[in-house]
Amino acid sequence: MKKILLVFGTRPEAIRMAPLVKELQLHPDKFQTMVCVTGQHREMLDQVLKIFDVEPDFDLNIMKRGQDLYDITTLILNGLKGVLQQNHPDMVLVHGDTTTSTAAALASFYMQIPVGHIEAGLRTYDIYSPYPEEMNRQITSKIATYHFAPTALSKQNLIEEKVPENQIVQTGNTVIDALYRVVDKIKKQTEIQAEIHQTLKTKGYDTSRLEQGKKMVLITGHRRENFGDGFIHICKAIKTLTTSYPDIDFIYPMHLNPNVRQPINEIFGEAVIPNMFFIEPLEYLSFVYLMEKSTLILTDSGGIQEEAPSLGKPVLVMRDVTERPEAVEAGTVKLVGTCYDTIVNEVSELLDNKLLYNKMSQAINPYGDGKACKRIVKALLEIQ
Ligand code: UD1
Ligand code: UDP
Repeated sequence: MKKILLVFGTRPEAIRMAPLVKELQLHPDKFQTMVCVTGQHREMLDQVLKIFDVEPDFDLNIMKRGQDLYDITTLILNGLKGVLQQNHPDMVLVHGDTTTSTAAALASFYMQIPVGHIEAGLRTYDIYSPYPEEMNRQITSKIATYHFAPTALSKQNLIEEKVPENQIVQTGNTVIDALYRVVDKIKKQTEIQAEIHQTLKTKGYDTSRLEQGKKMVLITGHRRENFGDGFIHICKAIKTLTTSYPDIDFIYPMHLNPNVRQPINEIFGEAVIPNMFFIEPLEYLSFVYLMEKSTLILTDSGGIQEEAPSLGKPVLVMRDVTERPEAVEAGTVKLVGTCYDTIVNEVSELLDNKLLYNKMSQAINPYGDGKACKRIVKALLEIQ
């Protein structure tokens, strides 16, 4: 029996690791599955744990309001030390590029415990974009023994960095597993649909507007490299767009990071704009519902670049580079940076130009077929 410890701490990691937890738990004779959450995120993490019904065995509960990278790294290193010493896992699984994942990989390395890296091999090769994620994932790749690469390109990146090919498995991205589960739930269960409508109503958005066919632009933002001027330009561009398109709703579920909220307050203040909806972060089901109902998505998120193409939604990404070029190449994702004029022009063009819109809204799926977790577990079963 292998003891596997999964460590994660933020919203996107939890969404992508939850289906893997469930898949591992289907093999109680082969794996003792343990979950440690760092609590790098608190409310936004707990929302995901609840939706996917995952109960952590350990919770480091490290989040502090306005935490910095030193806080996160040191608290996780010290917190995990005890968990690893007391439980001696045979392998630690970490995900992606957050500081939780890199600190957890390092803590495991210090105890010479092999690390498996889920969503391995994504790269921009610009260590400040995204920051600190690009360096985080490169460090984690150096530490990891097993690399679960989502796409052929991410596998190739690792091969070019001299990772032995027999330690890489191409699996697809577990985010598509999570997405399919949730889309299926929403489609099949009317009581879940009712809950989503109620949740959104409570948060300040009446979904009957969308059910009646209103167009909607969904917005998210949180990248550290966009803090300050980047977010000011983004907010100004959104404000202009709400005036130019009064018949379209703009919904922005705001990340809880104070650096994201400050520019929103600065640019929008107390202004009441009838088609602009700033709402609290959404649990995954309601967010997926909004993605499905949206006309287009304006975001700097990593994960949304993978989910939206599979739902046939064009994504304009407010970044200069992306580690997810597959959907850009396929034509459903476009990089627009954080310049005010570019954002206003690109969103307007997509809203006005039907031909362009149709071209960008093809449902494509370079990131997986919903079976990534099965492939990861199969590979773990084969490891001696
Ligand atoms: C983190 C990750 C980033 C990932 C993002 C996903 C790092 C360094 N950053 O960025 O890679 O893309 O999560 O969202 O690993 N907060 C709350 N409640 C929450 C979550 C956050 O109040 O549930 C507030 C706190 O004030 C916290 C701040 O947001 O200090 C920043 O959280 P942090 O995890 O440091 O950075 P993110 O921007 O969320
Ligand atoms: N998401 C969510 N609620 C929200 C906004 C986003 O559940 O209000 C989901 C989204 O579908 C995606 C993930 O959170 O799966 C992305 O998280 P985020 O953008 O914070 O992080 P990133 O992917 O950039 O690391």
